[in-house]
Order: sequence, then C-alpha cells, then structure tokens
Amino acid sequence: MYNFSLHQRISRICTQEKLSLSGDDLQFYTRLCSNATAIDSLYQSLYSNHLMADALFEKLLLTLIHNHQNRSAALRKRDLDKASKGAWFLSNEIAGMSLYVDRFCGTLKQLPEKLSYLESLGVNFLHLMPVFESPEGESDGGYAVSNFRKVDERFGTLEHLRIVQQKMLDKNMYLMLDIVLNHTSHHHEWAVKAKKGDPIYQEYFYMYDDRTIPDQFDATMPEIFPETAPGSFTWCKEANKWVMTVFHQYQWDLNYTNPAVLIDMLDTILFYANLGIDILRIDAPAFIWKQLGTTCQNLPQAHDILRLIRQCVQVSAPGMALLGEAIVAPKEIMKYFGTDLYTARECDVAYNATQMALQWDALATGDTRVMLAAQQDLLQKPYGCTWISYTRCHDDIGLGFEDSSIAAAGFNAYEHRKFLKDYYSGVHPGSPASGALFSVNPKTQDARISGSLASLCGLEKALESKNTSLIDIAVKKILLMQAQSFFVGGIPMLFYGDEAAYTNDYSYLNDPGKSYDNRWMHRPLINWEKNQKTTEVGTIEHRIFSGTQKLLKLRKQLPVTADHKNIHWITPHNIHVSGFIRSLGDEHLYCLFNYSNKAAYLTWYAFKEQGFGIKNLYDHWNEKRHLVGADYEYLIVEPYSFCLLETVV
Ligand code: GLC
Repeated sequence: MYNFSLHQRISRICTQEKLSLSGDDLQFYTRLCSNATAIDSLYQSLYSNHLMADALFEKLLLTLIHNHQNRSAALRKRDLDKASKGAWFLSNEIAGMSLYVDRFCGTLKQLPEKLSYLESLGVNFLHLMPVFESPEGESDGGYAVSNFRKVDERFGTLEHLRIVQQKMLDKNMYLMLDIVLNHTSHHHEWAVKAKKGDPIYQEYFYMYDDRTIPDQFDATMPEIFPETAPGSFTWCKEANKWVMTVFHQYQWDLNYTNPAVLIDMLDTILFYANLGIDILRIDAPAFIWKQLGTTCQNLPQAHDILRLIRQCVQVSAPGMALLGEAIVAPKEIMKYFGTDLYTARECDVAYNATQMALQWDALATGDTRVMLAAQQDLLQKPYGCTWISYTRCHDDIGLGFEDSSIAAAGFNAYEHRKFLKDYYSGVHPGSPASGALFSVNPKTQDARISGSLASLCGLEKALESKNTSLIDIAVKKILLMQAQSFFVGGIPMLFYGDEAAYTNDYSYLNDPGKSYDNRWMHRPLINWEKNQKTTEVGTIEHRIFSGTQKLLKLRKQLPVTADHKNIHWITPHNIHVSGFIRSLGDEHLYCLFNYSNKAAYLTWYAFKEQGFGIKNLYDHWNEKRHLVGADYEYLIVEPYSFCLLETVV
C-alpha cells in the first residue's frame, strides 16, 4: 500500500543523509520504500501510544540508512549472490557446527587454523557461541552480555573476529552469531545506569518499587530455572527496586514496550550483520514481550517485533537470514516462520527441537510411533523456511512434544515422560545412558535432560565396562541419531565434540561459576590429541568421525535432501523403524531408521504402497543394491542401523 506522507518522509531523510539515487544506494532506497509500509504498520501497532513514538521512528529510519552506509562492498556483493540463489539456506550443501571458541581452540586468533579440520568433516557453517563481553562467573555461557560490541578478552578482539569472518568467506563458509535480545547482563552499561537511578535507563528494564506487580507476573509466568533461579524477579539493592530476571538473577530482561530499546537493539543487529554474519541466531525470542496475566511467552507482540526486525534486515542487510531460537511447543514453533500476511516472512530458520526430542524418545523406547504421530504439526512448516536439525546442542533436551502425540501412540503421557527422564538420567534399571536431569521443577516434576550425545547413547558406560559389543552398539546409536537428523530436512547442526566421541565432562563441578548448571557436562574442553585420533583407523573417534563425514558427504551429493518441503513420512509396517521419502522430481530417497536392538525385516509392501513398482534401489549408507522384490522377500535393517535408498535405473 502506498503511503504518501511516509514516502515523503523517507525521501527527505535519504536526501538529508546524502544517499545517491544510483547503484547500491538506489537499491537500498527501493528496498526501504517497498518495505516501509510494513515497517510503519508493525511499528505503529506496537508503539503508537508511546509518547516518543514519532521521534523514535525517525531514529529507526536513520538506523537503517546508517547501517546500509556502513555495509562493505564485499557484503553487498554477497547479498546479491545470495539473492540470485533465492532461499540459499535451503541448500543441501550447508552443514554446520556449533562451538565455544575458548573450549574448542582457545581464542578467535587460533580458530582459522582449525577450519581445515571442520572442512574435512564436511562442515562449512559455524555457529560461534556468544563471544561478546560477558562477566566471568555470571555469564550463562556468554548469554549474559555486558557489552554487545566488544569481544570478550578471553576470546580476542573484534579485529580477530573480522579476520575469522574473512577467512571463512574466502573458503565460502557461512557464519552464525547470536543476538541476545531478551536480556542484558546486570553489568551492561544500561543496567549500571539504571542501578544508579537514571530514569531513562530504568525504562530499559522492568523495575518496580514493591512486589505488587512482580507478584502478579509471577502468578502466571512459568519458571525457567526453578532450581537455581526461582521466580522471575530479583531485588536490586542499588536501585531499591525489583527487576525482572526471567532467566538467571544476573540477566535483566529488556523492556520492549519502550521503542528506544528496540531501536538500540536493531542497531546492534545491523552492526552484527555488517560483521558478515550469514544467519543471525535470535536468542530466546519467545520471551521478548511481557504482559500481565499471561505466561509472557510467544505473545503476538513478540512476533510483531520479529517481523519488524525481519523487514528492517531485509532493507539494510538483505543477505542475512534470521534464526528464531524458540524452543517451544510444535504449534508455537511454527508461528515463528510467520502467519497470515507474514507467512514465511518472519524467521527463516528455527530449531527443530521437537524432532530432536522425538529421536531421543525413539532411542529410549525403541518405538517410533510418537515420532510419527507428532509429524502432522511439523509438516506445517511453510515453503521457503527451514530447520536447524540437530541431536545435541549446548542446551538441555526438553521433552517438548505434545501429550496428544504420546497418547496417539498408545502411551500414558506422564508415565512415558517419567520413563524417558529415568532412562536418560541412568536411574532406570539397565539403562545404558549417562545423563542428568536439568531444571527439575519441584512443583510439577517437569525436568529436562543434560548429557552429551555419546554419553546418552551409552558410550560412557560401555567404555567404563570395556565391553566391545556395548561400545559397538553405542557407536551405531550415535550414527543413527546423526543420520536421521541430517536427512530429515533442514541444516544439520553438529555440536562440537560429538564428531569425536566426547563423553560427559564432569570438571564443571569444580568451577563455582558453572557448578550450578549441569549443562556444562556436555560442553567439552577439546583435547586435540584426542581429536587427532579421528584420523587413526580403528579408534572410536575415527569410527564416529568417518561415519559423520560420510553422512555429510552423501547429503551434499544428493540434491533431493535440500529442504524443498519434500518430505513424505511413511509407515514401514514396523513400529521400531521410522521412515520417510525425500523426493525431487523423479528422484526419491527412502530413509529408514531402525531404533531397536533387533534386526527389522521389512517387506517391500511399504514401497509399493507409495506407488513404486519394480525399482532398483541403491543404499548409499550400506553401499548395496536392492531390487524391490516380491512380498515374501525382505529388506533387512540391522539393529540401530539405517538405509538411505535412492531409486536408480
Ligand atoms: C537460550 C540459550 C541458553 C540460555 C538462554 C538464556 O535459550 O540457548 O543457553 O541459557 O537462552 O539466554
């Protein structure tokens, strides 16, 4: 819709800011004008009642212009290259790893030396865990930021980060960093000013003189860390006020009802974009809008803010995609891709936390029916958006799938979840897993699970018992879990250490800044002598590394695995085996995963049922040819193994 006065205003500001009407500036101007109506209407819907709304809107427009002006020629070129590829992040040629720079290799300066290790694995996309300044001991792994523009000295400098980005760009690798949008450290300059009583900065947070409003909020807000940080408010003695702290007491929630907060954070987002970030991970977006009487999660205004950010990024840094880190119920996750007019126009990427948890469910139970039942929600993802597909990350595993999916598989939801928690915390008799419960809520008994991929798959106990057949089973389980997540659609995201068989690390218990948070058990300190073993045939490290490498290589070779919303779940008539077909034109890839400790005998019926008659199939994983046979012949999938069958002539 054309809005005359808005366009007049834009034209005036652009002239004042000396934008030329040619080349890149003209392209920027065109993008600004074509997105202006949406930006304005989203802004008005959030802030029209705010006293400073109009003056701050001018600041928003200036923020877009200045950040366009600061974008380097190289990044502008990369924007154009990406635009020519459409939704570039759907590609099957991107595979990522998430890592802590200090724990992986020491500092940013040392990171470039490790890029060849990552390339040899098949990784060309890095998620660097937060590197901006964060007070030691009160850092939440870097998610309590005290300065959004200064790299923490532990990691190096902004210049080192720029060098890493340049080296990655030279190798055509992609970079992801976080914007911690929901909160700052209480040592951030804004919080420090608020503590000193500055009213402007007290408006940047939620601060109250007494418990009246905090009590009302607490009545409906779920606790995130009930064991270590109960409630959602902390007493600030310097300011003599209660301050909202949804996560830890040292993480102060930003007040997005104040447009000044949004615009300052938008400026930071675009500053990050201009560092050359390809995908921006928006940390905890579900929490950014608070309203009395609600859970303060997934509110419509949180989506409006994300939409507004998306439109603004589109204007000033069009090549940067957005990942919404919303670890919420499947129906809610879907909304982060946008709804109504904004379908596929909110976040480009989201974590498929549901599928991740469903795989852990299937591994513990040996039953894939809950996974299948839950797909009806996940299949609603709009075209043009994609998942981060993963088995482990730096966080805990939440069993966030719906009770109705558990019931559809014939189980009692409470008992089922209890079994999973007992199984992975190792309490269940005979459980091979070594993990721990995280954030147990004493009131509801809700809990999540910590533990590394290898330990949860049984490698830790198998190594302790020196039992080679148990070690073999653990290795198979690790590759099974990775395989399904790499082929189910979305960008595979490995967690560092998982490619080299790292089991839990309990040394965090000796560090007072970490001991209260058992997620540190699965955030390993890399020992490069151990990683060197990934090249020694016969070692466990080599078996896992080479298996992972083979899977990533296959995925890159098979365009059918790009995320074109081309997944079709099948039932292989065996509850222990999950299966789906990825299709593109005449290409079909049948993916079958056996979650049981017994071989699965599958008739060809499931294949014929899909309309495929006599066909040759080539199993890329087991390197075997099959002919879809008569119904008395079987395809045998070994225990904890899988097949990746492509139709061939
Ligand atoms: C995200 C991060 C998590 C952190 C939280 C608070 O969920 O992944 O590690 O604790 O945000 O910032």
